[in-house]
Amino acid sequence: MRGSNRFLSINGKLVKTPIALASMAGITNAGYAIERAAHVGTVFIGGFSLDASTQEASRKMIETGRTEFSGDFDQIATELAMLEEIDVVVGLNLRGSTPEAYVSASHQFGNDVIYEIDAHCHQQPMIDAHCGEYLLHNVDALCAIVRALHAEGVCVSVKIRAGVVDDRLLARKLWAAGADILHIDLMDSGYTRIRQIRNSCPLIIIANNNINAPNKMMDMFSHGADMVSLARSANVATLQLLDRYIRTISDESGWYNAPKQLCRGGDLRSLAFCCMPVKQCPLLPTLDTIGMNRQEYLSLKRELTNGTEISKGSHTCFGSLAWCCKPSTPCMFRDTMLESLSLTKSEYMIMKRKLSDGIMEKIFVDASTDC
Ligand SMILES: Cc1cc2nc3c(=O)[nH]c(=O)nc-3n(C[C@H](O)[C@H](O)[C@H](O)COP(=O)(O)O)c2cc1C
Ligand code: SF4
Ligand code: SF4
Repeated sequence: MRGSNRFLSINGKLVKTPIALASMAGITNAGYAIERAAHVGTVFIGGFSLDASTQEASRKMIETGRTEFSGDFDQIATELAMLEEIDVVVGLNLRGSTPEAYVSASHQFGNDVIYEIDAHCHQQPMIDAHCGEYLLHNVDALCAIVRALHAEGVCVSVKIRAGVVDDRLLARKLWAAGADILHIDLMDSGYTRIRQIRNSCPLIIIANNNINAPNKMMDMFSHGADMVSLARSANVATLQLLDRYIRTISDESGWYNAPKQLCRGGDLRSLAFCCMPVKQCPLLPTLDTIGMNRQEYLSLKRELTNGTEISKGSHTCFGSLAWCCKPSTPCMFRDTMLESLSLTKSEYMIMKRKLSDGIMEKIFVDASTDC
């Protein structure tokens, strides 16, 4: 699901650090990204208004003093050319009112960039132009745009505000329609919302809103985010702090966004750390929720670890490291086993990440909710 690199790949490109610049109309442009390029892996420039109705909405908003909505669509090609010199995956944050407007942009700018649909803006002129938050309340229209872009073979991100509609249902519909990325402004809802969405779809999740310190970033990663993004606090000092922190975590632990254990509030990825289903604990109700019976769970973990070093572990509770806990839970038996296999804890975590990816692929085998 995520590729076997240190962080993740988006649009077929390795992302050098899981930190993104979120769009701020009139601010997040190529020059702004180049100044911050050393500490970010992705940038969403814009937003830009795509068609006559959203351009007219921009004009109305500029008249009321919101000059940031002056982002000129004709500038995009120049901006993209400037961004070619940096090793950052580039996205365009776009406001449009029809699938055709987005498809036409994709013909113009090709498949090297991510197309981010702005379903986030809650300014009335944009809503009246059938863009921004209008799309959250009219999910069929949003899915039609996603489907049209997906059919063009481009990478699709959807920028949303959490809590406007049922986020879990929305996530499943966007997945079914062919979205690749869900970029979520969490507003006041925090990391529990990220866990809910992680447990609803296999999309790449970018968590956004007030991520300005390592502890806030790690809360997002340990509950299911693949990346975090910053807008208002995206100064070089904060980006550098977060970037250094997550690189160190990755080097030391082997899995930068490892989940908490299930019984400590972890998302579904944490099934990689769960024991055999032998006691009353959150495992059994969780298996019920995802429609997996005990035997399927046992067979799946055995099958996914078969022939790997973590299938070994004769002196552990369940005879294999496949059932063992996170290294943050102290355990002499597991650690002795790892030592005898000459495995570092970080190598153990890399294998658990692979196991978790396999489990998630099985859980989210197909998008059953159609738009
Ligand atoms: C001045 C400004 C302009 C923004 N413009 C856009 C935009 O064009 N498109 C969009 O999806 N989000 C836009 N946003 C929202 C941000 O991308 C982000 O979701 C929000 O500010 C919360 O993240 P933060 O706490 O890191 O700032 C804008 C935010 C600000 C402050
Ligand atoms: S199986 Fe183990 S790790 Fe998983 S929820 Fe139960 S006690 Fe926690
Ligand atoms: S051996 Fe240790 S790490 Fe493995 S399941 Fe038992 S308590 Fe957990």
